[in-house]
Amino acid sequence: FRTLDDADVAGKRVLVRVDLNVPMENGAVADATRIERVIPTIKEISEKGGKVILLAHFGRPKGIDPTQSLKVIVPALADRLGKPVAFADDCIGEPAATAIAAMQPGDILLLENTRFHKEEEKNDPDFTKALAANGDIWVNEAFSAAHRAHASTEGLGHILPAYAGRTMQAELDALSKALEAPTRPVAAIVGGAKVSTKLDLLGNLTAKVDVLIIGGAMANTFLFAEGKAIGKSLCEREMADTARAILKTAAARGCTVVLPVDVVTAAEFKANAPSKTVTVDAIGADDMVLDIGPKSVLDVTSRLASVKTALWNGPFGAFELEPFDRGTVQVAKAVAELTQAGKVVSVAGGGDTVSALNHAGVASQFSYVSTAGGAFLEFLEGKALPGVEVLRKR
Ligand code: 3PG
Repeated sequence: FRTLDDADVAGKRVLVRVDLNVPMENGAVADATRIERVIPTIKEISEKGGKVILLAHFGRPKGIDPTQSLKVIVPALADRLGKPVAFADDCIGEPAATAIAAMQPGDILLLENTRFHKEEEKNDPDFTKALAANGDIWVNEAFSAAHRAHASTEGLGHILPAYAGRTMQAELDALSKALEAPTRPVAAIVGGAKVSTKLDLLGNLTAKVDVLIIGGAMANTFLFAEGKAIGKSLCEREMADTARAILKTAAARGCTVVLPVDVVTAAEFKANAPSKTVTVDAIGADDMVLDIGPKSVLDVTSRLASVKTALWNGPFGAFELEPFDRGTVQVAKAVAELTQAGKVVSVAGGGDTVSALNHAGVASQFSYVSTAGGAFLEFLEGKALPGVEVLRKR
């Protein structure tokens, strides 16, 4: 597909779809990663004399909702760009048209939350036309929203000349290198709570990776499927057959599945609850598995030491509750070290995973950390992302 290298932006109105859906705390941006990642594309278009018109969604409003206005993001953008950023109260109609008419080449304008119009999520053709009326070309920079076939993430690509932004390019490059054409052996770490929400992911990964390391509560379902007592742990008992089928498929495909060998248990789901470390054959009837144990950490890290590529989605335990963050933090530090030593290419993504890596203080030491949650998962599941497909078609 075409990138900014192919676009002549000088003097043009460039509609840039970005993902500014950042977590907020007390009215302030709590994690600016997504904002920071779109800065280079905005700067590049602005420096080349394009009029940068930013389109984005924020939260999941049902119609106009002042508490979900994108206006709060303006200072964070302007600060990082070192330039003023104008704002228009609506992404279509008179407010947008007036603000755009006042723009000079190089200026930057943010339009209000596209989801204030219900037609955005419906990918409504008339709404898409109204958005397109404000631009000469469309740059899709929102990889993390590319799993949505919405007007601003997909529809515009059918009407306007379409280009990938720099972060879109970087995300696709890192993710496809890690999944489609990795340096082998390749390991995937999949954690999180439920097997049922990650079935497609596990299925696709057993076909693509050499080692599949399973952590988090979903490991309990696999241990249960193997006949282990798991006490009061989170577990999807009804998924036991599915878990056994995944293990069988993996074995047939030559993919080694790694499950915990020891675990940290507690009677309560609470920070600093009294805990025990036991082997997976000795989980008490009243206990809950909240983390992997030290032998599992050693097992996982030694296996990771012999791969060349590592993909990570999902924590090993209840990392938001100390000390049950230990397994995740120790594995994260080990992957960071292997990456820094040039031994492993590491790619991580997903909301919880990125918070866990930030919590471990090692996110910046990974080869690549995706800004995407849902889109990262769908990519790993092998699904086509509408916001990417439309770029390829053009
Ligand atoms: C995200 O936060 O993953 C993206 O911005 C998509 O948001 P959505 O899940 O509300 O569509």
